[in-house]
Amino acid sequence: MSQSTTSQHHLPGHPHFQTRDGELFAEDVSLAGLAREHGTPLFVYSKSSMLEALAAYQRGFAGRKAKICYAMKANSSLGILQVFAQAGCGFDIVSGGELERVLAVGAKGSDIILSGVGKTRAEMRRALEVGIGCFNVESEGELEVLNEVAISLGQVAPVSIRVNPDVDPKTHPYISTGLKGNKFGVAHERTVATYQRAASLPGLKVVGIDCHIGSQITDESPYLDAMDRVLDLVQAIEAAGIALQHIDFGGGLGISYNGDQPPAADALWAKLLAKLDARGFGDRHFMIEPGRSLVGNAGVCVTEVLYLKPGEHKNFCIVDAAMNDLPRPAMYQAFHAVVPVKSGDAPAHTWDIVGPVCESGDWIARDRLLHVRPGDLLAVMSAGAYCMSMASNYNTRGRAAEVLVDGAKSWLIRERETAQDQMRPERLVPST
Ligand code: LLP
Repeated sequence: MSQSTTSQHHLPGHPHFQTRDGELFAEDVSLAGLAREHGTPLFVYSKSSMLEALAAYQRGFAGRKAKICYAMKANSSLGILQVFAQAGCGFDIVSGGELERVLAVGAKGSDIILSGVGKTRAEMRRALEVGIGCFNVESEGELEVLNEVAISLGQVAPVSIRVNPDVDPKTHPYISTGLKGNKFGVAHERTVATYQRAASLPGLKVVGIDCHIGSQITDESPYLDAMDRVLDLVQAIEAAGIALQHIDFGGGLGISYNGDQPPAADALWAKLLAKLDARGFGDRHFMIEPGRSLVGNAGVCVTEVLYLKPGEHKNFCIVDAAMNDLPRPAMYQAFHAVVPVKSGDAPAHTWDIVGPVCESGDWIARDRLLHVRPGDLLAVMSAGAYCMSMASNYNTRGRAAEVLVDGAKSWLIRERETAQDQMRPERLVPST
């Protein structure tokens, strides 16, 4: 059908997902068609959405020395990493496993920064072996161990110290990381002493400073406050004679799940850079580690309605996706919009959308007014970040398949996991 005769509606906050004649598309590909071809539950990602989200940061940093390191914990599927590698991003990683994934898509060691509170010696060794760009060190103990490991390999490890600016990001407590009571980073008042120790160790070379105050931040003020706190520390560290080449401001910018209105990346960075300029730091090398804001609204999870179970207190709509595929509602009481893949004519009722897992915590959405029948398809929106990367095999459910869409083209980037795939690393005890 030609576009001119098709009625199109963009979903607010999801520019590359739209309904055409009542049917939901990812870019120019029908979600119902993908579900027929690959089955459900199925994650579908729009490449244009990812590149557009990245472009907002790139605009924000135009004319500056800056590196955008995609925080791959948000979605570490190889096909997604490839998009960001090809777009020239660096990567923020937090484990040896993530390191191997990102090397597998051709990233260079020098474009990778290694964060995390619990790096093992083996992870440090492997990171040094591949010439990692920077270790974001999170504690005084870690400095000593990294120094030892680097010396044992005859290398010098580039380090940045993650400082804890002690600002409240006003987000869910599980994903707030920059407050005093959190396990992350080095306390504000210990920072200069920690830098002095780092600068004195022969296996380390101080290259920068970093912070990360939390995730799904929808208000600009915590960022502006944190920037001031970090710049105060930069001044104090440099006054102690230790030069810093880069300032890494972490990730955390939120997305719209339910009409939230986070600042646009370019607008936020215009304000942050104005502050940096005003304080005389505008010509430094900047790094950021965004995750969710690059992929969150680029992905949906398509799921089929299995059964409707109306009840006295609640109506349950049982679908084939579950908490093992979409863990955020169970873990953080998170909201994901749910929209029908095709508009149906079933009567509208208020449903709790739940999965097949044997726990009451296995819910995906609550109290949603939907026209649904068994066999219908629903799209769980904003499912590009922290869904597949947090998926589990609970109830021996295979992880879902994933498809990447680019215009009218689509690629299967992950096959549906089988029971055999899950059992492969396991061994039976030999009978004696
Ligand atoms: N850098 C560091 C050091 C981090 O700890 C994180 C996220 C990021 C960057 C990326 O933050 P983002 O730009 O994605 O907000 N599973 C939770 C989110 C956990 C975030 C953990 N750290 C969720 O589903 O909401």
